[in-house]
Amino acid sequence: MTLTNPHNLRIDIDGLMARLMQLGQDGALEGGGVCRLALSDADKAGRDRVTGWMRALGLEVSIDHIGNMIGVRAGQENLAPVMIGSHIDTVATGGLYDGNLGVLAGLEIIAALNAAGVQTRRPIAVAAFTNEEGARFAPDMMGSAVDRGSLEIGAALAAADADGLTVGEELARIGYRGPAEPGHITPHCFFELHVEQGPVLEEAGFEIGAVTGVQGISWMEYVIEGVSNHAGTTPMRLRRDAGHAAAVIAVEARQIAAKLGGDQVATVGVCALDPGLVNVIARRARITVDLRNTDEALLRRAEAMMAEVVRETAAREQVTITGRRLARFEPVAFDPGMIGLVHDIAAADGRKVMRMPSGAGHDAQMFAPHCPTGMVFVPSKGGISHNIREHTDPEQLQAGADVLMQAVLAKAEETEARS
Ligand code: GLV
Ligand code: MN
Ligand code: MN
Repeated sequence: MTLTNPHNLRIDIDGLMARLMQLGQDGALEGGGVCRLALSDADKAGRDRVTGWMRALGLEVSIDHIGNMIGVRAGQENLAPVMIGSHIDTVATGGLYDGNLGVLAGLEIIAALNAAGVQTRRPIAVAAFTNEEGARFAPDMMGSAVDRGSLEIGAALAAADADGLTVGEELARIGYRGPAEPGHITPHCFFELHVEQGPVLEEAGFEIGAVTGVQGISWMEYVIEGVSNHAGTTPMRLRRDAGHAAAVIAVEARQIAAKLGGDQVATVGVCALDPGLVNVIARRARITVDLRNTDEALLRRAEAMMAEVVRETAAREQVTITGRRLARFEPVAFDPGMIGLVHDIAAADGRKVMRMPSGAGHDAQMFAPHCPTGMVFVPSKGGISHNIREHTDPEQLQAGADVLMQAVLAKAEETEARS
């Protein structure tokens, strides 16, 4: 396999930065970040922009029933394409890079190939998947999961946001409930370039992460029903306080992570009390728990510990707690050949590269069981992400996008399905 780029192609970093900044205008927040929740008006604007760019680059664009947008550049031969993919939806407090980088670097690779007049043996597909973040509709990685058949389209379309609006309705409203069958393209292999979203590369002084896999993710929502009453007159012994029960669950989630140690993390990202007034005991609370671990057995243990906490808390506080699973993904290991390819290309390019797992979920993990899959990480300044301060320097973006391009070009010349 060729480890050096036969065409000496490099990403046009000015082009990549311009696209990142322009896409960042769709849903721009004051202070610099982006709120482009899946299937919002801002998402529609971003989608229009990205599909416009795909068409301007000569890609054949398809939109499928779940709104995934895939642009294909023809190869010399009608073989399975090398797919580059990520997402353009963001959390409500998103930065410019999470997801967007992977899609737009794919477009810049196409632009570089067009400018150099290079036609690869295999087609190259650039995909932007619907609702990777899961911040508005659960589960996360929704579009890629539907594409790969691990989530049924009907269940995805029926998923509702906090206001009861469904994915199906919102897709139709913004004009992205497309005609293509999800999974209509079976890729030869899959690549995703992403910002690390954590501190590891920066702290170690490395430029590139060759991602070895993604940790397991478990999301639960608990709705706690208690009894609302006066904060001043109700004796403590007579309370059925949904707010207090939610607080216990939040504290215990942290305790579970501390007890298990190692890679276990636990986050309570939502805690909403009803009626939410200073002098009223909450009758209802909604709380989410995000548990992650690279080890499936340990993640199951954390889930069992959480379930026990919920049972005990409901009994002790005399509240009703109803759990609903929002997402569950087992840890995923990427293809050793793809990890080695990313690593060796980065090293041959003179980059300081390390093998590392991903703490965040990614569309790539949906492809890993189906085709050779690899990811390229670039550092995140201060390890900050899902925050408007998310930042990666242009030179670091260039390094990652160049590694991605060389890896894509190497795979695009393969004649047989091997990694
Ligand atoms: C997606 O960004 C996740 O890891 O939650
Ligand atoms: Mn992402
Ligand atoms: Mn994200």
